[in-house]
Amino acid sequence: MEHGKDVIKDVISELTADHREVDELFARFGDTPPGSEERKRLADSITIELVRHSVAEEQHFYPAVREHVAGGDVLADRGIAEHGRIEQLLKDLEGRAPADLDFDRLMVKVRTEVRAHVDDEENNLFPRLRESVHPFVLESLGRKVHEAKRTAPTHPHPSSPHTPPANKLLAPGLGLVDRVRDCLTGRGQ
Ligand SMILES: [Fe+2]
Repeated sequence: MEHGKDVIKDVISELTADHREVDELFARFGDTPPGSEERKRLADSITIELVRHSVAEEQHFYPAVREHVAGGDVLADRGIAEHGRIEQLLKDLEGRAPADLDFDRLMVKVRTEVRAHVDDEENNLFPRLRESVHPFVLESLGRKVHEAKRTAPTHPHPSSPHTPPANKLLAPGLGLVDRVRDCLTGRGQ
């Protein structure tokens, strides 16, 4: 296996690592001059990271919450609704120049929504799932999330645009959020 050296983490470690990665991207965004192209590039990276994380959670994490956690349907529905609000903000952000006043205003909203979502997962959903299932289940889900992320697009401006999924990311007619989601879910193929 080409990624044989990877240590397989349980699903909670995998998703928590994603959260820290997004925190790091937001911190870099905050350290970058307002209106700069670097801000736009970081916003694209944040968008891709958030969409791939959302898809992985929707495919593997929320179904497990529904199945194993008491009251899990309500928790999963709430998490998915939060994803929906974040994605709408990311779509509103698409096509805006970094100098646009709404660009930074929308990024503040994204940051606030993401922070609330991450807090809810780390303080509420993750501990509840951990106490509801055998560690083996968490490891098995972790493997699935890890696999899902290996096939996920990682960069908005790939150096070799002729190989999938890079060519799909660059396909015209859809915004970045939809393109990333289509790549990950196979929708629109
Ligand atoms: Fe998450």
